[in-house]
Amino acid sequence: MTPEVRTARPDDAPAVTALIGELGYPAETGEVHRRLATLPPGHVVLVSVEGERVTGWLHARHGTSLVHGDRLEIVGLVVAADRRGAGEGGSLLVAVEEWARDRGLTAAQVLSGSERNAAHAFYRGRGFRTVKTEQVFVKSLVGER
Ligand SMILES: CC(C)(COP(=O)(O)OP(=O)(O)OC[C@H]1O[C@@H](n2cnc3c(N)ncnc32)[C@H](O)[C@@H]1OP(=O)(O)O)[C@@H](O)C(=O)NCCC(=O)NCCS
Repeated sequence: MTPEVRTARPDDAPAVTALIGELGYPAETGEVHRRLATLPPGHVVLVSVEGERVTGWLHARHGTSLVHGDRLEIVGLVVAADRRGAGEGGSLLVAVEEWARDRGLTAAQVLSGSERNAAHAFYRGRGFRTVKTEQVFVKSLVGER
């Protein structure tokens, strides 16, 4: 069965939050509701839906850089553990690639954690190739001036 894919709404926040948990990150429904309601221009969140149940989401943006120019950047993607392998991730990807083409974008990229081997197989099977491995650095900006 081909899942329905549509743009996320703020009231999808409870299901989206639960799926963020499956990605391994704690999240708070109210905060996710706020983020969905205030997405910056050039961002899109798509959800896959089976009946009334939201079973996957994909967040992407129209990214730009001095080095690479404009491209589709996939920021996050997850399908519910009990629904994986049924084509939902693929449907979300096809839909966001269409969104990107409509904006004139000609390339896509995704950063995927080195431990996510199943996801790497998923992307490779859909035309992505690995170009490099990077380290991610983060820093708190609170309380330091
Ligand atoms: C990666 C992910 C989004 C793919 O979604 P999906 O709905 O299972 O993908 P599809 O059914 O469209 O495609 C299945 C493909 O994904 C891969 N895959 C990943 N996990 C799988 C699973 N549990 N069962 C079956 N296939 C899986 C396989 O390579 C499969 O390839 P194939 O179609 O050539 O056999 C999903 O596995 C997931 O949510 N993983 C955990 C979170 C994650 O790693 N997200 C990516 C972060 S960058």
